[in-house]
Amino acid sequence: MAKPRSAAGATPRFAETSAGRMQETVTQNLLELETHFSFGENWAQYARKIDERRIEEAEKSLVRLVGREAIQGRTFLDIGCGSGLFSVAALRLGCQRLLAVDLDPRCVETTRGMLQFHAARARWECRCVSVFELDPANVGTFDVVYSWGVLHHTGAMHKAIGVASKLVASGGLLALGLYGKTPFCGLWRIEKRIYSRAAGWVQTAIRGAYLSLFRLRLALKGESFRKHRENYYQQRGMDLYHDMHDWLGGYPYESISPREAVRYLRELGFEPVRSFVYPCIGLLGAGCDEYCFTKPLPKSSSAALLAGASGLKVV
Ligand SMILES: C[S@@+](CC[C@H](N)C(=O)[O-])C[C@H]1O[C@@H](n2cnc3c(N)ncnc32)[C@H](O)[C@@H]1O
Repeated sequence: MAKPRSAAGATPRFAETSAGRMQETVTQNLLELETHFSFGENWAQYARKIDERRIEEAEKSLVRLVGREAIQGRTFLDIGCGSGLFSVAALRLGCQRLLAVDLDPRCVETTRGMLQFHAARARWECRCVSVFELDPANVGTFDVVYSWGVLHHTGAMHKAIGVASKLVASGGLLALGLYGKTPFCGLWRIEKRIYSRAAGWVQTAIRGAYLSLFRLRLALKGESFRKHRENYYQQRGMDLYHDMHDWLGGYPYESISPREAVRYLRELGFEPVRSFVYPCIGLLGAGCDEYCFTKPLPKSSSAALLAGASGLKVV
């Protein structure tokens, strides 16, 4: 794991959320890697498993959420690129120019390696920056802004969604994967805080206990663990054991209900296009709900487009 950029203390405190509820928040410099779970090592290891069939699954998942035409010939920003799998998938789907960013230098290194190997001739760039450092004045705006499983790990999810939304071009799309809210979110936040700071052997013990519960649940449902593990790549090209480590340690951690997500994005001027939500109790964790929003064209340009199509003069 690459050395963190600098040390910063993380002090838990309680604050009122926009929904008026008291929630633990973390006082931290949001640009500091030190206060975040070390995603980099996990993604670097996982990247060694990336093969053609995982890339195909990643492409399928992008097509389902964003749409093939929305990617082909368009600009694409991948915020929190992790292993780089979805950057590769976007380029393979024909995106015209790609910028991939991640807070973690190890993820940036892994993504660069993936892009050099799978898309050497395409137009791409990969930078080590936090979402909070992205400014349309410096990086421009993009036809597609994709941030899956990232913004709830930043320590300030609403602020991060706001920053990402500003990077979407008019008429463009914002695709997000965000943890759904469950009754067990508070407990998981505590577990993740402990796990992300624990020694390796403690993490192994927690993973072992979690894996036993996970296997028990599958057995009670009459499902085979072996089949589940083997077919796991069908979930966005992912791998069960790496996802488990990511779930147990992904801290900071926030979550959002579909209703709140749509309401907040509407406040930011976006309209929902499609979503895939997975309600659950959350006892063994929660999955990411997926959203695709559009930033409508300004009224004047929509009128001009309509007039252009119909031959009418805009006055
Ligand atoms: C769960 S992983 C998701 C990776 C990838 N988007 C995917 O779908 O496989 C979360 C990623 O977000 C990155 N991340 C966390 N906080 C970030 C921030 N403030 N700015 C940019 N990336 C961040 C982590 O380093 C990690 O690579």
